[in-house]
Amino acid sequence: MEVNCGTINETHIGREFVLQGWCRYKRDHGGKLFIDIADRYGLTQLVFEGETLKKAEGVGKEYVIKVSGKVKKRDEDTVDRTNPTGKVELYVTAIEILNKSEVPPFEIIEEKRKFLANEEVRFKYRYLDLRRREMIRKVEFRDRVSKSARKFFWDEGFLELETPTLVKDTYETGSKTFLVPSRTNKGKFYALDQSPQIYKQLIMIGGLDKYFQMAKCYRDEDPREDRQPEHTQIDVEISFRDERQLQDTIEGMIKRVFKEVLGKELKVPFRRMKYADAIAEYGSDKPDLRFGSRIVDITETAKKSNYNILKRVISSNGHVKAIAFDADFGKKGSPIDKNYMLKMIETAKYLGLGGLTWLYVSGNRITSEPGSIAESLGTDVCREIMKKLDASEGNVIIICSDTTESLLLDAMGKLRKEIGRRIGKFGAEFEMLWVEDFPLFEKDEVTGKLKPAHNPFSAPTISTARLLDSAPEKVVSRQYDLVINGTEMGSGSMRINDPEMQIKVLKMIGMTDASIERAFGFLIDALRHGAPPECGIGFGLDRFLTVLYGEEDIKEFILFPKNKKYESPVDGSPTEIDKKRLKDDFDMRIEKGAT
Ligand code: AMO
Repeated sequence: MEVNCGTINETHIGREFVLQGWCRYKRDHGGKLFIDIADRYGLTQLVFEGETLKKAEGVGKEYVIKVSGKVKKRDEDTVDRTNPTGKVELYVTAIEILNKSEVPPFEIIEEKRKFLANEEVRFKYRYLDLRRREMIRKVEFRDRVSKSARKFFWDEGFLELETPTLVKDTYETGSKTFLVPSRTNKGKFYALDQSPQIYKQLIMIGGLDKYFQMAKCYRDEDPREDRQPEHTQIDVEISFRDERQLQDTIEGMIKRVFKEVLGKELKVPFRRMKYADAIAEYGSDKPDLRFGSRIVDITETAKKSNYNILKRVISSNGHVKAIAFDADFGKKGSPIDKNYMLKMIETAKYLGLGGLTWLYVSGNRITSEPGSIAESLGTDVCREIMKKLDASEGNVIIICSDTTESLLLDAMGKLRKEIGRRIGKFGAEFEMLWVEDFPLFEKDEVTGKLKPAHNPFSAPTISTARLLDSAPEKVVSRQYDLVINGTEMGSGSMRINDPEMQIKVLKMIGMTDASIERAFGFLIDALRHGAPPECGIGFGLDRFLTVLYGEEDIKEFILFPKNKKYESPVDGSPTEIDKKRLKDDFDMRIEKGAT
């Protein structure tokens, strides 16, 4: 039997064992010394008396020790029921100090509640942070989820392959890549791959029709809570199959993970929604569907009111929209009160709106604070709004207006997410959704130029491809996103497999023949050698773990994460490189005073 610090229990009383681990807590009871020894598996109480006592006295926090001893039952009043080893203790007969430790910068306590170390210190000493029970659980969770996903793909006949991470730079598409100078090819650079996208397409051209990979992806994007500069995707590609078959596969993988890791049965197929509906009804292409509260257009109703703020917007051809929230407003314990709604007015302004009007339903009618708002809207208008929103007792209603519909929807989508999550009345723990029918292109807000909504390799639908020249903004892409609880978990598409179509799309996003040749010549060439119809997806493993575990921060599931400034606290990278080395190894001259 393999023994560790989480093994021994009542069934082992009277037996002798050897344990190795870290000294976690130490308590001196005069003539008797207690040390809790801990490892990945658990924590066992050691008792030292007589001869071993002297040696144990020299043991400090987090020292690495090896002990042998006999298991004894604990006195009833010292039993620790929260610990699986808590009914017994090991009476030590020999102790060896395997290594010493500096006093740790934070206490490695077992429970999250009491743990106060700040993030930067935790990340700098991540190897100590990893000794905490909560982190061990997260690390093991990651391991279980990846194993379960892998097993699914193996069983389904997918090949697990690896693609290069030192790849060609494709700066021309506006990508934010990390560059790696080459020592053997002075003056030249690799890019770190942002995803295995092009390589998995080459794999399909190579005839290996079912591929997956736990792929490391590197992106030099601006930091956000759900982003890291390096993340892991479960990257998948299949050929001779279409998007429905790909979606079935991903649903199968998630279903398996839910069953094996969470012990939950998941209903498939997942819901599907068109991109345009998601935007119109939820103000987002990744709506959180754990709660309702759809956005409803009330412009026609608002036209009948005397409420000046709305009248002004309507007279400039603006739009008025509203959302009702099941907030139990006015009831004890409701997370929504007047102060919170005043804060939401500020949030609405920050999001670019003039403000926000909020009302609530009380006594089966709409009322407001101050009451004059409901009065200006008028009884009939209020009644109509209630009906349109299907609002009932205790609901809070927000009304927003603007002349730019996209701005209005975007802001209301964010307000919906904020207020809905605060109320927290979720119909289900997990809500999965496929969003489909994305536009192929988006217009860059600054330059007005077209850019790909997903990536430039997504195919247009057959019925809208004919609009590529006349109305490119109306072309629909065969892209699909998987959204779980309002987080974009994965994104994929049917790929362009016609070289001429690929060149056309690249030209439409502003590339020239020369820049296409420079960046993607090898792909176009490959597409000319018999590219099968194919599709795939990149599924964010780190994000998946975060949502599955009910956490907020992706960093909790990354062993050695980067901080908010994308520095790595554990090793201090990125670092400056000696100028002489840059010159000698890479022929790079950093001019004096250059920035
Ligand atoms: P995309 O760029 O949408 O698609 O990425 C796919 C998924 O990867 C995750 N993800 C991230 N997770 C953490 N930090 C990041 N910086 C980060 N960036 C992306 C998200 C996202 O949904 N090649 C395509 C996929 C394809 O079409 O097959 C791609 O990479 O969960």
